[in-house]
Amino acid sequence: MSHKILMLPGDHIGPDIVAEADRLLRCLAADFGLQAELEYANLGGCAVDAEGAPFPESTRALAQAADAMLLGAVGGPEWDAIERDKRPERGLLAIREAQGLFANLRPAILFPELADASSLRAEVVAGLDILIVRELTGGIYFGQPRGIRTRDDGVREGFNTLVYGADEIERIGHAAFAAASRRQGRLCSVDKANVLESSELWREVMSDLAAQYPHVELSHLYVDNAAMQLVRAPKQFDVMVTGNLFGDVLSDCAAMLTGSIGMLPSASLDANGRGLYEPVHGSAPDISGQDRANPLATLLSVAMMLRYSLNESALADRVEHAVQAVLGQGLRSADLAANGVTPVGTRAMGDAVIAALRAQTD
Ligand code: IPM
Ligand code: MG
Repeated sequence: MSHKILMLPGDHIGPDIVAEADRLLRCLAADFGLQAELEYANLGGCAVDAEGAPFPESTRALAQAADAMLLGAVGGPEWDAIERDKRPERGLLAIREAQGLFANLRPAILFPELADASSLRAEVVAGLDILIVRELTGGIYFGQPRGIRTRDDGVREGFNTLVYGADEIERIGHAAFAAASRRQGRLCSVDKANVLESSELWREVMSDLAAQYPHVELSHLYVDNAAMQLVRAPKQFDVMVTGNLFGDVLSDCAAMLTGSIGMLPSASLDANGRGLYEPVHGSAPDISGQDRANPLATLLSVAMMLRYSLNESALADRVEHAVQAVLGQGLRSADLAANGVTPVGTRAMGDAVIAALRAQTD
């Protein structure tokens, strides 16, 4: 059966990096037996320009019919002044919500070849392998009421609502406990239960779930401490589970431990394993269209797609090994290159990964 993959290049470097994913997928189809049909749609600023909305109906229909989606990145300064509902980021939030993509998996793995690219000392990060499980369709990102209003005294105020139902906490909890069971069996739940009622419930529900996963060791941290521990001794973590906003912040922090945010893939899954895959980084308007973006996070997102949505874990391993081989050859994109090393462009990096894939002998 052929897999339907919806490609959503998005804005700025999005098309640069998704072009490399397209070539990788076509190589997997031509040489490794992957059955896939690629379709394209607009999401983000490009969709506002072409179709008047950041998540247009046409994209919604194609997303609904796809087995998996691959997103580049959305956003850029040209859409900064646009009305709030048309912001590119709203398109991303809307597709997450419409497709029920509540479980966001963000692995932060340090390739040994990149230990020196981390801002932390190599011994602090060597062997790092963390999975952040972020709740993606609830919490303060979606809570109502929200808005900007004018108070009786004439002063304007902005407001948002942080609300989590026990059902939402439970389903992300199950996803995280299940992930921890497949790894080292340690789960750290991150909240702010010393201040927030929503976190008090979060902690209670997570603690109750633990009884169903006797092989997983559950711990809890307040988010401020978790941020500190991530940069102090990151290897203490196996899986971390947290809400939408805390997960947004902590995942960028964890990403940087690995040398560059340009290396990190992610998966956003629904209850049935259908998903949207995207690099954790943004649209980098300053380098778009210049063949300078690092495509590796996007290619690693293709690997996650193969593993989680397309049931092709052997191909996922191949892609990950090919990326590692390219790093082993010393190739570095601009975000990773040390002083004196000539950086490799987006296209050449994509070429090298495809060549490494074809060179695999097993
Ligand atoms: C992310 C991004 C998004 C988020 C933005 C672009 C809406 O930062 O995926 O981490 O905040 O979720
Ligand atoms: Mg973010």
